[in-house]
Amino acid sequence: MGWMQWLQTLTNIMYAMVLLGVVWEQGSWTVTGQTLLQNGDFETGPANITTNSGQEVPIVGQNALPGWKLQGTVLYVSSGGNISLPNDGHGVELGLNGQISQVFSAEKPGSPYALTFSIGQAGEKDECLASNLVNVTVSPYSQLFQLNAQFTPESWDTYAWGFVAQDITLDLVFKSQPGEVDPNVTCGPVIDTVALKEFGTIESSKGNLLLNGDFEQGPYIPVNASHGILLAPVSDISSSSLPGWSIGPSNPVKYIDSAHFHVPNGAGAVELVSPQQGAIQQNVTTVPGLAYGFSFEIGDGNDSCFGNMTIKFQAGPLTQNHTYFSGGFGGKDLVSIGFKAESTSTLVSFMSLSKHYGDGTSFCGPIIDNVMLMVASSGLRLSIMLVSCIISFTLTLCLTI
Ligand SMILES: *[C@@H]1O[C@H](CO)[C@@H](O)[C@H](O)[C@H]1NC(C)=O
Ligand SMILES: *[C@@H]1O[C@H](CO)[C@@H](O)[C@H](O)[C@H]1NC(C)=O
Ligand SMILES: *[C@@H]1O[C@H](CO)[C@@H](O)[C@H](O)[C@H]1NC(C)=O
Ligand SMILES: *[C@@H]1O[C@H](CO)[C@@H](O)[C@H](O)[C@H]1NC(C)=O
Ligand SMILES: *[C@@H]1O[C@H](CO)[C@@H](O)[C@H](O)[C@H]1NC(C)=O
Ligand SMILES: *[C@@H]1O[C@H](CO)[C@@H](O)[C@H](O)[C@H]1NC(C)=O
Ligand SMILES: *[C@@H]1O[C@H](CO)[C@@H](O)[C@H](O)[C@H]1NC(C)=O
Ligand SMILES: *[C@@H]1O[C@H](CO)[C@@H](O)[C@H](O)[C@H]1NC(C)=O
Ligand SMILES: *[C@@H]1O[C@H](CO)[C@@H](O)[C@H](O)[C@H]1NC(C)=O
Repeated sequence: MGWMQWLQTLTNIMYAMVLLGVVWEQGSWTVTGQTLLQNGDFETGPANITTNSGQEVPIVGQNALPGWKLQGTVLYVSSGGNISLPNDGHGVELGLNGQISQVFSAEKPGSPYALTFSIGQAGEKDECLASNLVNVTVSPYSQLFQLNAQFTPESWDTYAWGFVAQDITLDLVFKSQPGEVDPNVTCGPVIDTVALKEFGTIESSKGNLLLNGDFEQGPYIPVNASHGILLAPVSDISSSSLPGWSIGPSNPVKYIDSAHFHVPNGAGAVELVSPQQGAIQQNVTTVPGLAYGFSFEIGDGNDSCFGNMTIKFQAGPLTQNHTYFSGGFGGKDLVSIGFKAESTSTLVSFMSLSKHYGDGTSFCGPIIDNVMLMVASSGLRLSIMLVSCIISFTLTLCLTI
């Protein structure tokens, strides 16, 4: 094809996109690695709006906010007064039927991503809490989020949520969900600091049968996220914001990093902040009858989260409790046991049994890191290697074991 034909084709595609209602003016770019979305911190406001601290101003026009497409009632807010936001900057409040969306391109269909975003509220009013639901969608995935504020001393939460790109072009949508409250109450959820991270291929480290057992792979952590990131419950591992692990059943765990906490090992770790209902699990392929070594580190973040912290952990046939005596000064225990696999699938899981409060009001808990599951008898290592190669079909995994 000559360049004239290319130009013609391009024009046709753009014309078709306009017909399909794809927002072309705002453009879209390919998200690889990790990045804030375009104007993901909302610090660039609508051209003709100036807000003072603590103010909310309705935004007029669906393209008035740089980077985003708007629908329904959307307000531009400035932190201050009753409005508290990450970095004390700006955010958007989703009022009645309020919606913001942004189109981005995935590197390829099938790429796993984690979205990081903060949710807050405009106003102290109790009734606002109930109407603070936001539906987050990257089709066909969607999940409802609500300001919880039980896990940080702040009046906003930062969440991570995973999805798998089903297409090259994706539309991220935040939509307010009418709560079952007084329809005349106009307060809605405030969204801030929206970022994406694409997880490349994640390989298990040498000898460790667990994927991401050291938790070095996790969602994007904003520079100022000093309270960690809540990982939403997820049962489908393919769309987990913590690669390799499922989360739940019904409460989040927290992803923390060494920039803001003392972590037992490396840069990332998991804090079990929800007693009983917030656990992490991973299945590993094992050979029945074979001996395995299992170990992990449990500690505290040097953030005054102290007390006798009891967790329940499982490694295949073994279920045990371990109590870590936390002084809140950044200590840790190394727990190490051996077991014989009874099945071709061995479940590894961690759950906190005790309840702890970091600063009197917000939940905190023990930190888990450096989880390892290894074949104990090295003579049989080759057969394990072959089994995991056959099952995973991943040449890279075979080569790294
Ligand atoms: C801002 O500009 C839009 C169009 O660009 C206009 O419709 C709207 O009324 C303006 N808002 C204010 C507060 O001036
Ligand atoms: C904060 O909220 C309270 C209760 O709704 C209200 O009385 C007060 O005026 C608000 N303060 C500001 C600065 O908006
Ligand atoms: C982090 O917070 C400080 C103080 O609130 C602020 O000055 C700075 O701009 C923030 N950094 C980012 C990357 O948002
Ligand atoms: C959230 O939005 C998506 C897309 O519009 C929709 O399919 C889903 O049902 C919504 N979830 C809830 C709980 O309303
Ligand atoms: C909401 O406001 C309208 C108009 O002011 C009023 O008629 C209605 O009773 C109010 N609804 C509730 C549930 O208070
Ligand atoms: C682990 O495998 C078992 C049996 O195959 C399955 O029932 C369970 O849901 C899996 N759990 C996780 C966390 O993948
Ligand atoms: C933790 O347990 C130890 C031994 O059972 C006990 O002596 C200590 O008082 C407990 N500490 C707290 C803070 O409960
Ligand atoms: C672990 O602790 C819980 C709660 O204290 C208790 O009910 C359970 O029996 C303990 N499990 C084991 C294996 O010790
Ligand atoms: C814990 O924090 C204190 C003060 O912030 C610091 O002096 C100490 O070295 C830290 N401990 C560890 C184990 O990092």
